[in-house]
Amino acid sequence: MENKLRVSVVFGTRPEAVKMAPVIKALKERPEHFEVQVCVTAQHREMLDQVLQVFEITPDVDLDLMLPDQQLPQLTARIFTGLDPVLTAYRPDWLLIQGDTTTVMAAAILGFYRQIKIGHVEAGLRTHDKWQPFPEEINRRIAGVVADLHFAPTQYNRQNLLREGVPDEIIVVTGNPAIDALHQITRQPAPPAADELLKDAGILGGTRRLVLVTAHRRENFGQPIRDICTALKQLAHAYRDEITIVYPVHLNPNIQDPVHQILEGVDNIRLLPPLDYLPLVHLMKHASLILTDSGGIQEEAPSLGVPTLVLRERTERQEGIAAGTLKLVGTDPEIIFIEAQQLLDDPAAHAAMAGAVNPYGDGHAAERIVAALLAAKKA
Ligand code: UD1
Repeated sequence: MENKLRVSVVFGTRPEAVKMAPVIKALKERPEHFEVQVCVTAQHREMLDQVLQVFEITPDVDLDLMLPDQQLPQLTARIFTGLDPVLTAYRPDWLLIQGDTTTVMAAAILGFYRQIKIGHVEAGLRTHDKWQPFPEEINRRIAGVVADLHFAPTQYNRQNLLREGVPDEIIVVTGNPAIDALHQITRQPAPPAADELLKDAGILGGTRRLVLVTAHRRENFGQPIRDICTALKQLAHAYRDEITIVYPVHLNPNIQDPVHQILEGVDNIRLLPPLDYLPLVHLMKHASLILTDSGGIQEEAPSLGVPTLVLRERTERQEGIAAGTLKLVGTDPEIIFIEAQQLLDDPAAHAAMAGAVNPYGDGHAAERIVAALLAAKKA
């Protein structure tokens, strides 16, 4: 009987959970090869728990670290002191981390200190600008420096890693597990509450078009988020009888406060609490247009064929821009308005973006990640 690989999967926020869920499932489907420990830092609490429930993941360890309005240095310190005893007690062969959050950065350094092999899922995304997105660009570069296996979603990401001197033998192009998760979730029936919301907003069974918005990035705190809200208000007024803007608002108070101040009470704007992953996907499917600064939605929207305006100055998802489903518009209210207007008014411009091909994978990323771990064991 060969020795099983002991794998610790560590994550902390909603998007990490979405993308790690297919990987955890694929590992657990091979109990003859893997022993899996799932550890959540719970850098997010409510937003993480929603996703754990949807994908039926019960963490083996829950560090429950989130504090209201947490600051990055203190969060990082709590992850170090909370996670270290977990890793030293379990002594995994591999530590799997995903993406670019503070949880990922801290876990990567800990793995290095404790000489545990590190597999980085969603490796090689870069804007090459240390401040955008902040702090994610540096978090993922740190993970990239210590990783022993880099699971790059696309060839473009692989090239970024090669340019940084990462040996080709330790890069595996897998696709993004976000697409695996999306495939799993779109097979499920529409949640009744989401259908109710769509009916109530005049979209299902009505004539209105859905403009879906999400925004939460740290570099958009302050004036940029206020500018985004100003553009949304103008858009809502200009298309008073034609669109409903639905905006699930991230729980971060730096986002909650300005969004509610500026947009509360506008007739055709619905401000919602953060949505579960399943209803969010359902809304994305019905959207005519998405405005977002999120990373994951930039991957999901091309897969669902929804034109997406990216509310950031830079993106690490260049593939979606090149394919034509994403357009980088920044946070200037006038530009946001003009770009949205074009997509709402010009069916040809809309169709050109909607018809672009999804560059983020075929939904089999998790299988490739698991196969690469097994191959590394044999090598
Ligand atoms: C984090 C990640 C970001 C990721 C985003 C996804 C970092 C530095 N940032 O940003 O990369 O795109 O998650 O959402 O790791 N809050 C709650 N309940 C929750 C979640 C958040 O109340 O379930 C509030 C808390 O007040 C918390 C604040 O949001 O202090 C900020 O959370 P934090 O994880 O520090 O940063 P995000 O902005 O969510």
